[in-house]
Parts: sequence; structure tokens; C-alpha cells
Amino acid sequence: KLVSGKEMLLEAKSNGFAVGAFSAHNAETVQAILLASAEQKAPVMIQIGQRVIRSIGMDAMVGLIHSLGRDLDAVVAIHLDHGSSFEQAMLAVQLGFQSVMYDGSHLPLDENIRITRQVADAAHALRISVEGEIGRIGGTEDDRTVSEEEAFLTDVSEAVYFSEQTGVDYLAVAVGTAHGLYKGEVKLHLNRLRQIAEQVDKPIVLHGGSGVPDALIHQAISAGVSKINVDTELRQAFALAAQRVWRDDPDEYHLAVVLGEARDAVKQKVAEKIRLFGQRGEE
Ligand code: 13P
Ligand code: ZN
Ligand code: NA
Repeated sequence: KLVSGKEMLLEAKSNGFAVGAFSAHNAETVQAILLASAEQKAPVMIQIGQRVIRSIGMDAMVGLIHSLGRDLDAVVAIHLDHGSSFEQAMLAVQLGFQSVMYDGSHLPLDENIRITRQVADAAHALRISVEGEIGRIGGTEDDRTVSEEEAFLTDVSEAVYFSEQTGVDYLAVAVGTAHGLYKGEVKLHLNRLRQIAEQVDKPIVLHGGSGVPDALIHQAISAGVSKINVDTELRQAFALAAQRVWRDDPDEYHLAVVLGEARDAVKQKVAEKIRLFGQRGEE
């Protein structure tokens, strides 16, 4: 079942859990996320990022979600991750996404506001939810790299201003997490996060969910995070499972065997994150 992104996150916010937004890259990862959602009875976002858009395309990914989800009880919002332009966001809306992110965080504030607001106005006319980003999240997302020093935390009053001016439904902030795995210790700026969540009063999105220790995830949710993006840990689970199959039998040429193991590993990882994020399925 496809549901509104905004409603999904408002439900999470008022019940004190976070929705997992899981990145999909192929048929098996789509299937893994759908199966985990259905088995855990938990709503999820399946997010389509810039790399998979370049390699497979939004259209094909949406087709996979529809066809693989048809006979499952998954509850899903299809989400555009780090949307790169107004045009791309509109294409996603046309293709039937329930949620689109426009990422103008690398732009000057007024430019970020201008384009995000355009996206929000157009998407809202069709009841599609919108995520904006303010502040710089560290790490590498597709081809954009933000170094530790360059990464700067979201400013509280700027976040409030951005939220009011753009009309976004939820807001991605930079509070210490980074895309990818971490070399050193993760430092979450929980006070900053709490202040932003209180003053913005909309669901807050945490990017860079992979590699964040479980205890910190709990603290982030208590501080007001309602959507947590997870990509790298899923790709890692996929890769490790495929490597295991080929290590045991380098002559295993049945891709269904290799990809099946990889899918099951991703499904387990998604289920683990759903439980960590406190999503409780109804009995
Ligand atoms: P990770 O790769 O650290 O899980 O971050 C995912 C993300 O933020 C996608 O937008
Ligand atoms: Zn991200
Ligand atoms: Na991360």
C-alpha cells in the first residue's frame, strides 16, 4: 500500500518512533525492503537516490516497487533522495512518488529557499510531500563530497526561517552524522537537534544513518528525529553476502542464488533497523 510521506512521519513523530528510509538499488533490494516492511508490519520509505537514477532510472525503480509489492502487505512511501533539481522533483511527482526531497543545501540560503519553495508549491498542489535540507551533512553522497571541516551544523534560527519560507513538510538537518561509515567516533549534537526539533515543530530527518551506534539512534529519536536514512549498511550487507557465496563456491554462476542470499541479508538488516527505530507493527 502506498501512503503519504507526511502522514507517515507525523504518525511517527506523535508516537515517538522514526520511520526508516531505505535506499534501493535493484530488484533484490526493493524486494528486501518490501518483505521487511510486510513482515514487521511497519511503514517504510523506499528511497531512490541519484546513482540508481543514473544507472537504472526512476521509472524502472518505480515499476519494480509496484510489481514486487503487489502481493505483499508492505506500507510504503516512494521517496526521491537528494533530488538535484526542480525538474527532477517534478518528474518524480509525475511518476507517482509520495515524497520528494530537493537538496539545495550546497546553495546560498536564499537560492536554496527559492527552489525548495518552488518544489513544495508544485508538489503540494498534487498532495505530494516534500523534504528540504539546511546545513551540510558530511561524507560522500553520490558525487558530492563534504569534508569534516566543511560540514557545518544546521543553525537553529536558519532552520526555522527555512521551514517557514519554503513550507516543506519535513526537514533534513546536519547535526553530526555523515553519509557512509565512520572512521572515528560519531558525535551527535543532541542539544542542537533538540532545539531545532522544538522550534521547527515538523518531522526532522537524519541522514547518514549507517554506522551510527544504536544508543545514539535512540537519543536522536528522543530528541525529535522522525525519519532516518539508511543506505551504506544495506549495500554492505548485500556485498558481504554475495562475497560469502562466491568465497564458498567461486563457480556459483546462478545469479538467483547469489542475489537471493544478498536479498535475504538486506532484508535482515532492514528488519533490524525497523526494530531499532522503534516502529511497532499493530498485532
Ligand atoms: P548512509 O549511507 O550513511 O546510510 O546515509 C544514507 C543517506 O543519508 C541517504 O540519503
Ligand atoms: Zn542523505
Ligand atoms: Na553514515
